[in-house]
Amino acid sequence: MQIFHSISAIQNHLKSLVRQGKTVGFVPTMGALHAGHLALVETAKTNNDIAVCSIFVNPTQFNNAHDLAVYPRTLESDAQLLETVNCDFIFAPNAEEMYPDLPNLKFDFGDLERVMEGEFRPGHFNGVGIVVAKLFHIIKPDRAYFGQKDLQQCAVVRRLIHDLSFDLELIICPTHRETDGLAMSSRNRNLTEEQRNLAPNLYKTMNLAKEKLLAGESVQVVKMFVQKTLSDIQGIDLEYFELSNLDNLKPINEYISGKTAFCIAAFLGKTRLIDNLIF
Ligand code: PAJ
Repeated sequence: MQIFHSISAIQNHLKSLVRQGKTVGFVPTMGALHAGHLALVETAKTNNDIAVCSIFVNPTQFNNAHDLAVYPRTLESDAQLLETVNCDFIFAPNAEEMYPDLPNLKFDFGDLERVMEGEFRPGHFNGVGIVVAKLFHIIKPDRAYFGQKDLQQCAVVRRLIHDLSFDLELIICPTHRETDGLAMSSRNRNLTEEQRNLAPNLYKTMNLAKEKLLAGESVQVVKMFVQKTLSDIQGIDLEYFELSNLDNLKPINEYISGKTAFCIAAFLGKTRLIDNLIF
């Protein structure tokens, strides 16, 4: 496995391999890797000749200075983990390499920008769009692997690929969870022990809500149930709980079989966690 820090070095290296007919699977990340990230890399390696993982804590997608400051940066142990899943190349640029000038370019993903992560993290998807488009241009993958854990990000990237005619296949992989149901996230490292014990309640409550919805309760009752259940737990501050149409992530007022997504975001102290459930 090789680590590249410069754009031209990894581009030159990949160019010669692609000329030999090799296919490239790409997993963009912000590092602090866990089993969810590693599963994406394993899938990329299984389905392509070469697996590339990028590690870059992208400043343009953070709308909260504290979140950016405390985002874990663990390149050395990340590299060791990537070695175990036979990753071929790590691309780990610094901010100057990626942004010699901050782009003035702005993406607007329409309705996707106005709900949930778009609504509560203004500018976030613009930053994601810019960095993912740059990374796609740099790596030129045949396939790119993203996690369902960030459901709205998947929808944004799908639009980006479609609208800008990127010649690649988008593969969405399932959410990896801890044994108690908590969705794996780099931000889990910032939880105190007490917060870590509370965190599985997000997934647990979504599952209870799912049972209620499938038993015929109305969307309104189900939403109130989630709000009440979580507000009764001291230490969890619910930011939103939304029922969305899986096709476009627009809010829905009725259960659509196979196409309903529960999406949730909550603060545990200063750490913000998101999760979702599709059914
Ligand atoms: P990051 O949060 O590091 O996530 C990198 C990829 O791993 C994303 O596609 C994310 O959805 C996926 N992932 C995270 N947790 C997961 C889990 N528990 N199970 C399965 N997949 C999981 O998402 C980003 O970075 C950034 O926004 C990025 C796309 C790299 C752009 O900066």
